Amino acid sequence: MAWVYIEDLGRHIGEEVTLKGWLYNRRSSGKVHFLLVRDGTGICQCVASHADIGPAAFAEADHLSQETSLEVTGVVREDKRAPGGRELAVKHFTVHAPSADYPITPKEHGVAFLLDLRHLWVRSARQHAILRVRSEVEAACRDFFHERGFILFDAPILTPTSCEGTTNLFEIDYFGERKAYLTQSGQLYAEAGALAFGKVYCFGPTFRAEKSKTRRHLTEFWMVEPEVAYFTLDEDMQLAEDFVSYILTRVLQRRRDELVALDRDLSKLERASVKPYPRITYDEAIDRLRAKGFEVKWGDDLGGDEETALSSDFDTPVLVHRYPAQCKAFYMKRDPLRPEVALCVDMLAPEGYGEIIGGGQREDDYDQLKQRLIDHKLPLKPFNWYLDLRRYGSVPHAGFGMGIERMTAWCCGIHHIREAIPFPRMMERLEP
Ligand code: 4AD
Ligand code: MG
Repeated sequence: MAWVYIEDLGRHIGEEVTLKGWLYNRRSSGKVHFLLVRDGTGICQCVASHADIGPAAFAEADHLSQETSLEVTGVVREDKRAPGGRELAVKHFTVHAPSADYPITPKEHGVAFLLDLRHLWVRSARQHAILRVRSEVEAACRDFFHERGFILFDAPILTPTSCEGTTNLFEIDYFGERKAYLTQSGQLYAEAGALAFGKVYCFGPTFRAEKSKTRRHLTEFWMVEPEVAYFTLDEDMQLAEDFVSYILTRVLQRRRDELVALDRDLSKLERASVKPYPRITYDEAIDRLRAKGFEVKWGDDLGGDEETALSSDFDTPVLVHRYPAQCKAFYMKRDPLRPEVALCVDMLAPEGYGEIIGGGQREDDYDQLKQRLIDHKLPLKPFNWYLDLRRYGSVPHAGFGMGIERMTAWCCGIHHIREAIPFPRMMERLEP
């Protein structure tokens, strides 16, 4: 019998097919059992009548428990009333393995309980929709860069140094001989790649020992980071804008059903996909914040509340550029016209989703970079290879990093980014 995935049922109307999946839910009208079967691609209502499947199978169907694995064979028919517009008229079914007392029932559960059962929670419809959007975001990231001739240049996860400051660095004992660190960003390695290949991107897990328990912070998150030789800040901002608009357009095209299932306001995402995005300087951001009653000092980095307030002025992402150099990482190039600011940019998403992209132009002068390392009290020796990039044919270059979970959370309109990754890692959570 032809094994078919639920998402492909539309091509098999009137045919006899087999679904392989799990029992999501069921109800009964006495003479007919409605088995809701999920197979990962969708949920199909399978209608099993006493007349069609016989008394033994009919009795068995009445006792199937949630998440029992099973194969169901029947004829596909269109039915406007069925979820998804199609249903299966069951001829017979076989149970693979039972599932007794499945802990996640259709009733409401608390988030802590569900997070403890994350390995099972990912089977639920809502989590399904979110993680399918995530998968689309990641695919869109790869396609965007490959369509533009970027080389995927994977960065290491075990590193000898920090990249984004030492305050949130995870330290590891490396064979009892030395310390290693979990990477905070692949950027420094992507820079080596850019000087070798012109335009590259890296894409992988990154780690921050963040002591902040906010809805925007994970200790392990995925970052996609392009880096381009001969790029300046303006070109970098253009790339970031094109990139985010591309991802939104793609998710709206291909994951519309999931967004609808999540009750996402599609018009907001559609509006946010329209370029150009506004660009304001940090100075202008400070003026806007003061006008809104925030007490912000020039020189401070912007916090979550400030980002939310700023972005509420716009219905697309906004690019905030030229932050004070003092609140940014050591590698940022200073603006030659105003050395107190860095040639950097943060992109803030609308609707309170905060910073989704951080990046900018890198210091490409050997002496300046070396001095920055000293100023930031970073050891020179482990950065010697990085200084080599300024010793041998240094060029202006720029790039950025986008957090996949923040982007996904924004697309889905969910409150906390912990649901935007299969197995979230936070300060208070390492399991499952
Ligand atoms: O602004 P960040 O720290 O920038 C960098 O790491 C640069 N080295 C990137 C580059 O230029 N190649 O982080 C970039 C993005 C943020 O805008 C945010 O989307 C995400 O990574 N991010 C986090 N996501 C979840 N949890 C955290 N703790 C995050 N920290 C940063
Ligand atoms: Mg940042």
